[in-house]
This record gives sequence, structure tokens and C-alpha cells, in this order.
Amino acid sequence: MAKDIKIVLTGDRPTGKLHLGHFVGSIQNRIKLQNEADKSFYMVADIQGLTDNADNPEKVRGNVLEVALDNLACGLDPKKTTMFIQSEVPEIAELTVLFLNLVTLARLKRNPTVKNEMKDKGFGEDVPAGFLAYPVSQAADILFAKANLIPVGEDQLPVIEQVNEIVDDFNRLYGKTFNRVKHLTGDTGRLVGIDGNSKMSKSLNNAIYISDSLEVVSKKVMNMYTDPNHIHVNDAGKVEGNVVFTYLDIFDENKDEIVELKKQYEKGGLGDVVIKKRLIEVLEKLIAPIRERRENLAKDPQAVMKILQEGTVKAREAAVETMAEVRKAIKIDYF
Ligand code: TRP
Repeated sequence: MAKDIKIVLTGDRPTGKLHLGHFVGSIQNRIKLQNEADKSFYMVADIQGLTDNADNPEKVRGNVLEVALDNLACGLDPKKTTMFIQSEVPEIAELTVLFLNLVTLARLKRNPTVKNEMKDKGFGEDVPAGFLAYPVSQAADILFAKANLIPVGEDQLPVIEQVNEIVDDFNRLYGKTFNRVKHLTGDTGRLVGIDGNSKMSKSLNNAIYISDSLEVVSKKVMNMYTDPNHIHVNDAGKVEGNVVFTYLDIFDENKDEIVELKKQYEKGGLGDVVIKKRLIEVLEKLIAPIRERRENLAKDPQAVMKILQEGTVKAREAAVETMAEVRKAIKIDYF
């Protein structure tokens, strides 16, 4: 395969609806890249979702449709992007098993992304082996399709690094089969949660969802962390670490006005409610059309499942081809 062919692949775990952190970290890039790529894949990573939800398959199953809806509503176009379900491409599991031989337990335990997630989930030594090894299965997610450009949130960079180690080891041991992959992250950095925590996440309960109603968004913004010492309107306020300003910086297109507002806030005389109301408007402008498309798509869930089914057929074709090549390379092509 020529190196300059651009094959994009990305995915979401179906463990909850997607939020603005996903939007700025990865979804915006997927939407853009589907127009530039030679091929574009989007995976509902249900097997990965099960790695820390083995006892709750209903949750994973129930969110397959939700994450597909979120992506379609944001503008993922099934004509341009092959949308599929991970578990329906069993070659990915096969490839994962073979990749597992190339990775040590020590290396798995060292991955900072996995370490952080283990801490968030309170796993300690009792981490499911499948969860610890999810970067290996993610390598299979990516490499079955020979994808080389991966839009992901910043938190996933150590996973992508591990994928490239697997590429190098595989090629060294079995002959050149895969190309190294590149990541693409959003240009605003990781989105903070509404509470000021460095990461927006469902488990931290500090997220604004792409599908949230205006009422819910308003409530969340009104509760946003600002400057705890900015008690009276006339007090001088702090802009740094103030979540409302962090969001305005990212989502408000009128940058000049934001500069002015910041000056005013720092001097004193600008109330939190004013900037919060502005942010609500800005977010509503972004979310309203997405919400409307989502509501329309949600009326016909079978149509969405059909998109995934048709995409899965296409993804499998690529997977079967890659597995034939892999089996040959590892000398397990008997008959
Ligand atoms: N680990 C990713 C996340 O939690 C989801 C994912 C699964 C993924 N497989 C992938 C992302 C392949 C990119 C490529 O967001």
C-alpha cells in the first residue's frame, strides 16, 4: 500500500452519550477528515466498552445507537465514512490475540492513559486483563483497516504510541506489513469539565452532552466554576482557571469581544451571570442544529442500525484481506 494514501479511523466506546469534550477533541476532526481522506472508518467500540463493563452488557448495547446518533447528528456522513460495530468484525479479535504476544505485562501497566483510567475507575490490581490490554485491541481496531490517521482526544496519545510500537515489532518479526499511524487531536487542547476539573468526563459527572436540552445546558453553565473570590459584581475577577472564559475562548467566535470582556471582568464590574448567559447562547448556537438532527434521526433507529450493518460488511472485507496477509506473515496460513 502506498504510504501517502490517507485512511482515517476512529471510534467511541458505547458507554454513554458523547459530550463537548469528545466534540472538540475528536468529532470535529472526524467530520473534516472524511472529506479529505481516501477512506474513512468510524467504529462503535463495543468490545472495548465491555472491558470495564463485563457485568453490564445492557449498558453497552443500549449506547451503540446513542453514539452512532451523536456522530451522525454532528455531521458524520455514512456515504463518506464507513460506520461499523467492532464486535461484528471478529477478525479484530483475532488480530488482538496475535498482537498480545508482542506486548509485555510491564508495558501494559506503564501506559499513562490506562493508568489514569484505572485510577478514575478505582481498579488497582483488580483491573480486568481485557481493560489493561485495551490499547492492544485498539491497535487491531486501527490496523485491520490499515488506517494511518487517527483523530483522537489528547488523552489517547499514549495509546497511539503503543500502537506504533506494535507496528514496529510486528514488522521487525514478520516482515513489513503495517505502516506507523499518526494521531490528530483537536486544536484547543483537552476540554475542562464544568467543575474546573482538567478533564470532562461522564464518570466525573462534569460534562455537557451534545444532546443536552437548552434547559440542561443552561443549568450546567449557571453552575459552572468561575472565580470563587468574585463575590460581588464590582470585585475584580480572575479569568485564568475560570471555566466560563475557558469555554468562551473555545466556542465564542467573537474573539475581540471576549478580550474586552476579560479586561472588564479582571477590573471588576462584570457579573458572572452576564458571561454565563453569553456562554449559554454561544453553546446553544452550536448544539441546537445538532440536537434537531439527532431528534430526527432518533425517530428511525432501524435506519441507523442499517447504516451500521452496511458499514460492517464493508469493514469486514478489509479485515478479511488484512488477516490473510497477517496469517501468511506469521506462518499460520495452513490450508
Ligand atoms: N479508546 C477510544 C476512546 O476511549 C475509543 C476507540 C476504540 C478508538 N477504538 C479506537 C479510537 C480506534 C480511535 C481508534 O475514546
